[in-house]
Parts: sequence; C-alpha cells; structure tokens
Amino acid sequence: MKVLVYGSLNIDLIFSVGHIVRPGETISGTALTRSAGGKGANQAAALAKAGVPVKLAGKIGQDGEFLLSLLESYGADTSLVTVYGGATGQAIIQLDENRQNAIILYGGGNREITEGEIKAVISGFSAGDMIVLQNEISHTAEIIRQAKSRGMKICLNPSPYDGSVESLPLDMVDIFFVNEIEGAALAGEPPSAAVPAVLEKLAGRFPSAEILLTAGKDGAYYAFREIRAKGTIMDVPVVDTTGAGDTFTGYFLAARLRGYTEQQALDTACRAASIAVSRPGAMEAVPLASEVFGESTTPQHE
Ligand code: RIB
Repeated sequence: MKVLVYGSLNIDLIFSVGHIVRPGETISGTALTRSAGGKGANQAAALAKAGVPVKLAGKIGQDGEFLLSLLESYGADTSLVTVYGGATGQAIIQLDENRQNAIILYGGGNREITEGEIKAVISGFSAGDMIVLQNEISHTAEIIRQAKSRGMKICLNPSPYDGSVESLPLDMVDIFFVNEIEGAALAGEPPSAAVPAVLEKLAGRFPSAEILLTAGKDGAYYAFREIRAKGTIMDVPVVDTTGAGDTFTGYFLAARLRGYTEQQALDTACRAASIAVSRPGAMEAVPLASEVFGESTTPQHE
C-alpha cells in the first residue's frame, strides 16, 4: 500500500504583528521569518515524521528547492515534485499577539500543474493505495477522478474552502478532514453553528465517508456510520497555529495505518497538533513520531 500526497508546496513568509492589518491600514511587523509550508508539503512532512513512507507530488520553482531538501530530511520521497521555470507558491502569514493568523496565498507552481502531469503521477498507483489532497493546487477534481478510477482511497482536506469545493466530486471522497469553518460551509450551516450539529450534518451528507472535524481548543470529532469519537487537545502555550490542521491530518492517517482504533488515532492526532501549536512555523513545527506515539498507546487491530 503506497501513500501519495498530491498538493501544495509554499514558501511561508511569517510577519509577527500586533494585530491583523485592517483595510486601508499600514502596520509594521516586529519579526519576519521565511519558512517551509504549503498544506500538501506539511501533510507529507507529518506523515513522514510519523514514520509513514510517503510520496509527495507537486510543482515548485527553483526558489523552492530548499523545501525538497527539508522534506527529504524527514523521510518523504519528493521525486514526483516537478521543478519548473516560474515561482514557487507563497503564503504571506500575519501572526498576531493572540497567536491567530491570517494568510494570503500566491499559487505559483501549485496552480501550474497540468492534466498530463497528473496522469503520469497517478498511473504509478493502484487499488488500495491512498491519496491525500487539499484545495491549493490546480485540477483537484481531475486528480480525484483519476485516483478513484484506479481504486485509490481518497482523503480530502478541502482547505482553503472556496466556491470551487462544491464542484469537486465529493461523493468519491473516503475521508474528509475539515476545521469548524470548512465543516460548517460543507454542511450548509453558518460558521457559528454548533460543532456536533455540523458533524451530524456532514455524516448525513456523506454517509459512506469518514468525517474528521477539528475544532481548535474544543478538540476534534470523528463520525463514520454509527461510530462517534471525540479527541481532546493538550493544554499547551500556543505559539503558532499555522499547520496544526496539517499535523492532525498526517498523524491521524499514520495512526490508522499503524492499526490504531478511531479513538486512539484521534487522541494521537490531537497530541501531535497540540505539540505543533507550541512551536513556531508550519512544517518545522510538526513533531517527530518519538514525541507523539507513547508506549501507553497500544494499537488495537479491529
Ligand atoms: O495549513 C498551513 C499552510 O497553509 C501554510 O504552511 C501555508 O503555506 C498555507 O498553505
């Protein structure tokens, strides 16, 4: 069984600010950090750090080649990432005093992926393999269709959530990863809707899919058919929430691949995400397997 993440690689420019800039306002940042990110790359990093042999496919410019070295150092296989003549995707991240962020994306190579490249990548996978997708690259619908036609298991984190998500073949998705905002949008509910109610709506809309719904300090929820579970996050000083959801996704899947129950996988993913938010950055903040998989968490094979 092979695991493929087909997704974005970004250069994250993180501005530390007193508050998120308002319309018409100019503010000065107190610090600027250039680091490794992109939801696809972060999720591949989380899977790799969790000990899963993972392949990452995507597209970057020469300015992003440091991302490949970093990912390789975590154990991810980046041989399916194409280097083209343009720019790597970028994320301008404002990180305020309360550790909340606001992100502006520039697609770069992430939006230059072609249907021909997708066909070549997906042809290397077969029934039972797993693909992990987000919503930061071009032709995501086509990737889902091709992966499904080869019998791959489809994991989708429809983030960032925008109008394009509803045009994806969502009925082909086997596992959804959403935060409370994305979950509410997908459920047709307002952002203020109660998380358990959103979970039930999603379970009703996608009856054959597993639903993972993260809710910040309120932990994370799981639904699949009649199964329900809830994970609790650790009480840690929050330094930077960027990439916490990506850490959760990678570690949940890694735990399930180890044979953990839904509840154990949820607890593992919450622990990993809690550690990630206590550190700065995205990919670099993802903890190692040795920090997350405690001896007390014995896999239970179903
Ligand atoms: O999920 C966090 C990521 O979103 C950041 O690393 C940034 O690159 C954006 O893609």
